[in-house]
Amino acid sequence: MRREAEQRVAELRRLIEHHNYRYYVLDNPEIPDAEYDRLMRELQQLEAAHPELATPDSPSQRVGGQPLPEFAPVRHRVPMLSIRTETDTTEAGAIAFDARVRKQLGLDENAPPVEYAAELKFDGLAVSLRYEHGVLVQAATRGDGETGEDVTQNVRTVHIIPLRLDTEHPPEVLEVRGEVYMRRDDFERYNDKQRKLGRPTLVNPRNGAAGSIRQLDPAVAAQRPLSFFCYGIGETAGWAVPATHGQLLDALAELGLPVSTERVVGPGIATLLAFHQSIADKRDSLPFDIDGVVYKVNSVELQQQLGFVAREPRWAVAHKYPAQEELTVVEAIDVQVGRTGALTPVARLKPVFVGGVTVTNATLHNEDEVRRKDVRIGDTVIVRRAGDVIPEVVAILPERRPMRDLVTPLNEAFAMPTRCPECDAPVVKLEGEAAARCTNGLSCPAQRKQALIHFASRRAMDIEGLGDKLVEQMVDKGLIRTPADLYGLAVEQVAGLERMAEKSANNLIAAIDHSKRKDLARFIFALGIRNVGEQTAKDLARHFGKLDALMQADEAMLMLVPDVGPVVAESVLAFFAEPHNRAVIERLRAAEAWRDGEARPMVAGHLAGKTFVLTGTLPTLAREVAKARIEAAGGKVAGSVSKKTDYVVAGAEPGSKFTKAQELGVTILDEAQLLQLLEGSVG
Ligand code: IVH
Repeated sequence: MRREAEQRVAELRRLIEHHNYRYYVLDNPEIPDAEYDRLMRELQQLEAAHPELATPDSPSQRVGGQPLPEFAPVRHRVPMLSIRTETDTTEAGAIAFDARVRKQLGLDENAPPVEYAAELKFDGLAVSLRYEHGVLVQAATRGDGETGEDVTQNVRTVHIIPLRLDTEHPPEVLEVRGEVYMRRDDFERYNDKQRKLGRPTLVNPRNGAAGSIRQLDPAVAAQRPLSFFCYGIGETAGWAVPATHGQLLDALAELGLPVSTERVVGPGIATLLAFHQSIADKRDSLPFDIDGVVYKVNSVELQQQLGFVAREPRWAVAHKYPAQEELTVVEAIDVQVGRTGALTPVARLKPVFVGGVTVTNATLHNEDEVRRKDVRIGDTVIVRRAGDVIPEVVAILPERRPMRDLVTPLNEAFAMPTRCPECDAPVVKLEGEAAARCTNGLSCPAQRKQALIHFASRRAMDIEGLGDKLVEQMVDKGLIRTPADLYGLAVEQVAGLERMAEKSANNLIAAIDHSKRKDLARFIFALGIRNVGEQTAKDLARHFGKLDALMQADEAMLMLVPDVGPVVAESVLAFFAEPHNRAVIERLRAAEAWRDGEARPMVAGHLAGKTFVLTGTLPTLAREVAKARIEAAGGKVAGSVSKKTDYVVAGAEPGSKFTKAQELGVTILDEAQLLQLLEGSVG
C-alpha cells in the first residue's frame, strides 16, 4: 500500500510538472484544466494521507498552504545590495560609469575597453531563492539588505520558479537573486476578472507583484499571475561560479531558471549606449514594465577588485528611462463632447513630466471609471503615459486627499452633467453603453466642430490645412455651421481670421475646392455616420453606387450589403431620416462635393431557378435576411421540402424538414456554405 502510494505520488508529480511546463512555459497545454485539477487533487490527497511522502519541491506546494500570522525574518548570508542609479537620462550616465570603472581599475586611455554585460532593470520585487541540493528550500525578500522576510510559501506559487533545479549534480547551496514581477497582459487579465467579480483591482503591475509576495495568505498569492527573472547570485557552496556575469546567467538558464533574453555582452561604452537605445525603442512593446537598464562589469574577478561603496557595488549601475508614472494634482475635471456626442470626463492636471513629455490632461474615460477610481478635484493622482497612448489617471492617493472629512464643492464626488456643457441639451445614457451622450446632434457646437474636423480629415475629404484650431475659430465666429458651408466660403471671410494671411486664405479656399468630386466611399465616410467607419463606407459605396440609392434603402436592403448588420443599418437609417442631414446633403450635392459611381453589378440571378428551404436557427443570419439574399440572387425560398427542392439550409435545432431532406437526398447546406453560394464562389 505504502509502496503503491509512493509510486503514484512520484508518477503524479512527474505528470503535473510536465503539464505545468506545457501550460506556463510553452503556453500550449495538452490537457483541459479540469483534468489537471484532478491530478493535483489526487496528489494532495495522497500527500495528506501519507505525510512522510510530502516534500518541499512537490508541485502541490504551488497552490498555496495555510495563512501565516507574520513573516519570519531571514538573515542574508551574502547581503542583498542595491545599485547606484545614474540620474542622467542621456548618454552621460554610461560615459560617467565607464570613466569611474576605468579609473578605479587604473586603466589609462591606451588600455583596451572594459567588457560589460547589459540587461534590463525589472520593475518588481527583489527576492533571493535558496536551493540546497537542487531543491528550493527558502525564498526571502530583500528587506534592509541584511535581513529580509521569509516568503517561501508565496514564492512556491510562482509557476515559472522551479521547485527543483534541472541538473543531475546540483550544487550544495545556490542562492539565486532576481525580481518577481507581473506581466502587463497578466495584470490586465487579472484586473478584468476582479472587476467582473466586483473585487478590488491592482494599481499597477509592480504593486501587484510586491503586494502578492508580501501576502500572508499564500492561497491569495497563488491567484496572482506572477513571473520571475534572475539577475545574480548570493551564497554558493559546491558550485563552480562562472567567470563572467554573462556566463553566470547562461548557467542559471541551463539549470532551468528564467533569465531574460534581452541582454548583451560587449566592449566599452558603445555596447552600453547601443543597448540603452535599442531597449528604449522597444520599451513599450516588452510584455512587462522596466524602469531602465543595468550595466555590469562582466568579469567576476574585476567585480571583486572593484568592490563596494556603502551598499552599492562599484561594478554595476542602473540607467533609468523617463518614468511612465508620476504623481500630480487634479485641478479640475472637465467634460468634453466628441463627434457622436459622447461625453468624456478629462482631468486637468498640474503640469507633470511623465513618459518623456509634459502632461496637463488625462482621460478619465467615462463616468463609471471616474466613480470607480473616485477621482475628485484636489486629489493627488498617479498619471501614466506609456508610448503614444493617451495619458490616463491610474489611481488616486486617498491619504493625500485634502479636507477628507469635509464636503466642499471641491472634493464632491464627480457626477456627469445632466445637460451638455457645450449646448445645454439633455444628456442621455443608453443601456449597455458606457458613454453618456448629448442629444442635440449637429446643433451642438462641440459635435458640429468635431463633425467638421472629421469631414475635412485626411482619410475623409482630405482638405489640406483645415485643422482643429481653424475649424474651432470658424465655428465660433459663425463662418461655418455644416460641411456644406465650407464650399461657399470666400477668401475675404477666411483672411479675417487669426494667423491667416491672404496667401494662406487663398490656399485654404483652393484646398476646399480641390476636395470636391470625391469618390462616394470617402464622402460617405466623411459624413460621420455612427458605426460607419472607412471599410463600411467602402462597402456601402460599392454596393449602392449612388448616394440616392443608399438614402432610399430600407433596413432589409442595407442588410444585403456584406458585413452590414442591424446596428449599422439602424445608424444609416437614423442619419438619413434626419431632415437637417438631408438638407446639408442637398447643398453638398449642389457644390458637387462627391461623385457617384456604379452600383455593384448584382451577380444577376446566378441562383435563378433554384429553390431553397430554410430550417433551424442560423448562427448569424436572421431568417428574413437569408431569404432576402437568396431572392436578391434570383433564388426562391419555399416553405416545405419536396423533390423539387435544390437546397435545404439547416441551422441549429432543425425541424422535420431536415429529416425530409435527408430522405429525399436533397443537398443540405450550413450557413457558411450558403454564404459561399450567394457570393457565387461555388455551386
Ligand atoms: S543587480 C549587486 N540587476 O534593482 C547588484 N538589480 O537598486 C544587485 N533590479 O533591489 C542588484 N533589475 O530589485 C540587479 N538586472 C538587475 C535588476 C536589478 C532590477 C532591482 C533589484 C534591486 C534594485 C537595485
